[in-house]
Amino acid sequence: MTAKLISGTEVARQIREELKEETDRLKEKFNVTPGLVTILVGQNPASMSYVTAKQKTSKELGFHSVQDNQPETISEGDLLALIEKYNRDPQIHGILVQLPLPKHINETKVLYAIDPKKDVDGFHPVNVGKLMIGEADYLPCTPAGIQQLLIRSGVKTDGAEVVVVGRSNIVGKPIANILIQKQKGANATVTVCHTGTKEMAFHTRRAEILIVAAGKPNAVTADMVKEGAVVIDVGVNRIGMTPEGKAKLCGDVDFEAVKEKASLITPVPGGVGPMTITMLMLNTVKAAKLAAGIPAV
Ligand code: GUN
Repeated sequence: MTAKLISGTEVARQIREELKEETDRLKEKFNVTPGLVTILVGQNPASMSYVTAKQKTSKELGFHSVQDNQPETISEGDLLALIEKYNRDPQIHGILVQLPLPKHINETKVLYAIDPKKDVDGFHPVNVGKLMIGEADYLPCTPAGIQQLLIRSGVKTDGAEVVVVGRSNIVGKPIANILIQKQKGANATVTVCHTGTKEMAFHTRRAEILIVAAGKPNAVTADMVKEGAVVIDVGVNRIGMTPEGKAKLCGDVDFEAVKEKASLITPVPGGVGPMTITMLMLNTVKAAKLAAGIPAV
């Protein structure tokens, strides 16, 4: 079997079109413009490219968008004060602090400082807790994007055997939590594998839907995949430069071999990546509506 590609680029384009219409409606009918601030500390090249892409998309949708660049040397106290300023700013509905942060800043403290109502990343413990109990306002962006890719590609999750490789707070744990909920686009049986797992291939070979967020190239090879599985590759590994001087990317899955076994597979780039940014925009529109008391449609 040769897999069909799930194009995150295309699904993200569709959702962004819907969001543009919704943003225009909010402006015209309610005089509300969704506002997003992205805070970047230092000059990590990957973080800079993510934040630039987030800003570009938010501008295309017509948001009030602010990029706040801070030096690597900013103190923890000053960063917390900056977050507090945006917590109080009524034009800002979503606050995103790009991770990772420099070593001298306590990431947990920073995430706790963001007003949960403006936490469009879905990383604040209040929002993590709400997700656990099926009451989420904001799903974290990458897992939310994965769920949308499955739904919009017609993949049935109800009763499906899902295996997640990786247990990060940003992807592995939240996607597992999303997919076990008794809700539409979920209700799956989920196994989470991690560095403590004894027989990784034993688990991955059982997966009807295999979600790989391991953070290393070739973490999943063809012998680890069930014939006909749906494979979602969340990895973004920089493996050199293209002749045009852009970063050359690969995922965590041995794409060429695994695509001969899977029924559906996401490419890297052009798979999960574009969805993450789009779900951030969706959360920001939602935050603006919640702040203004506008019901979800
Ligand atoms: N760094 C890598 N992924 C993310 C993300 O989804 N949000 C933030 N804030 N930082 C990240």
